[in-house]
Amino acid sequence: MSQPIILVTGGAGYIGSHAVLALQRAGYGVVILDNLVYGHRDLVASVLKVPLIVGDTCDRPLLDQIFANYSIAAVMHFAAYTYVGESVTDPAKYYRNNVLGTLTLLEAMQAAAVDHFVFSSTCATYGLPQTIPLTEAHPQQPINPYGRSKLMVEQMLADFDRAYGLQSVYFRYFNAAGADPSGCLGEDHQPETHLIPLVLLTALGKRERVTIFGTDYPTPDGTCIRDYIHVSDLATAHILGLEYLLQGGATTAFNLGNGSGFSVRQVIDTAQQVTGREIPVQYSDRRAGDPPVLIGSSHKASTVLGWVPRFPELADIIAHAWNWHQQRHS
Ligand SMILES: NC(=O)c1ccc[n+]([C@@H]2O[C@H](COP(=O)([O-])OP(=O)(O)OC[C@H]3O[C@@H](n4cnc5c(N)ncnc54)[C@H](O)[C@@H]3O)[C@@H](O)[C@H]2O)c1
Repeated sequence: MSQPIILVTGGAGYIGSHAVLALQRAGYGVVILDNLVYGHRDLVASVLKVPLIVGDTCDRPLLDQIFANYSIAAVMHFAAYTYVGESVTDPAKYYRNNVLGTLTLLEAMQAAAVDHFVFSSTCATYGLPQTIPLTEAHPQQPINPYGRSKLMVEQMLADFDRAYGLQSVYFRYFNAAGADPSGCLGEDHQPETHLIPLVLLTALGKRERVTIFGTDYPTPDGTCIRDYIHVSDLATAHILGLEYLLQGGATTAFNLGNGSGFSVRQVIDTAQQVTGREIPVQYSDRRAGDPPVLIGSSHKASTVLGWVPRFPELADIIAHAWNWHQQRHS
């Protein structure tokens, strides 16, 4: 029997590329659709070696052609714009890409009778936390257009299930971090806004210092606490989510987080230990909209999907990221 083929949108990006690797390791065929606005053609060509269709999720004729050319069993949808600040200054860009692009994709799936969908949602759909750790039942009141664009897609997916029987899993990620332990893939966002790569780029001398936004939060060391989840653990969860759907699982949301938080200060201290290098810092005021603590409960993913993170330790997450950054920037 031929292997099931999964269409991975955004598969040339950070999390999508790790999911492609996990799919390959699990025996699936993969086709990537990526517009390469942020994706890396070189990593698809040298590491993943799967068909890369350079194009956009808003391009309906292209989507129809992909579904006609390949026998697609399910779609994993990573493609989106992800810069929270930019979503505030240019919301149209985010609603067009993240909402309209997803709607166009869902309509093409419906036309092609493909009815399994794994979606990259985000803890940003919750907004400011009312209880810690956040469970899937926490109210969803996003505070920026990026989070709202993802919540709109979740709502669309619930409606598509009720009306058309499209089954989907939406994963609400906390902070994706780390790199494949082999060092062949990792995080390379341009511009970079995530703490761990910023810290490691500073350790490499590519940036002068790391800015710590706020040192007077009600946390043990005064800096913000976030939940960092290893990207390979995220990728594994996507395989489990896919298999859940292929076995008839119902549409639902799962948090994907580590369950334990680390402060900005802890991240920098651990990175100094892992790299053996001094990481200069500068202090700045709090940023608007940054809650002191964001930690997710992934209990539902553990019980329903049997998901167990392999790399929950911050030192492992940073060591894998460091391995990748050294190679990528050598
Ligand atoms: N990185 C995180 O910590 C995090 C946290 C929560 C949710 N997410 C979500 O996970 C997904 C992947 O994030 P990432 O960090 O890997 O981002 P990324 O920018 O590295 O990957 C996104 C990829 O999608 C592509 N893309 C964007 N719009 C497209 C379109 N319309 N058509 C085709 N390709 C398109 C980009 O070129 C890029 O390769 C996103 O949906 C993001 O919202 C990420």
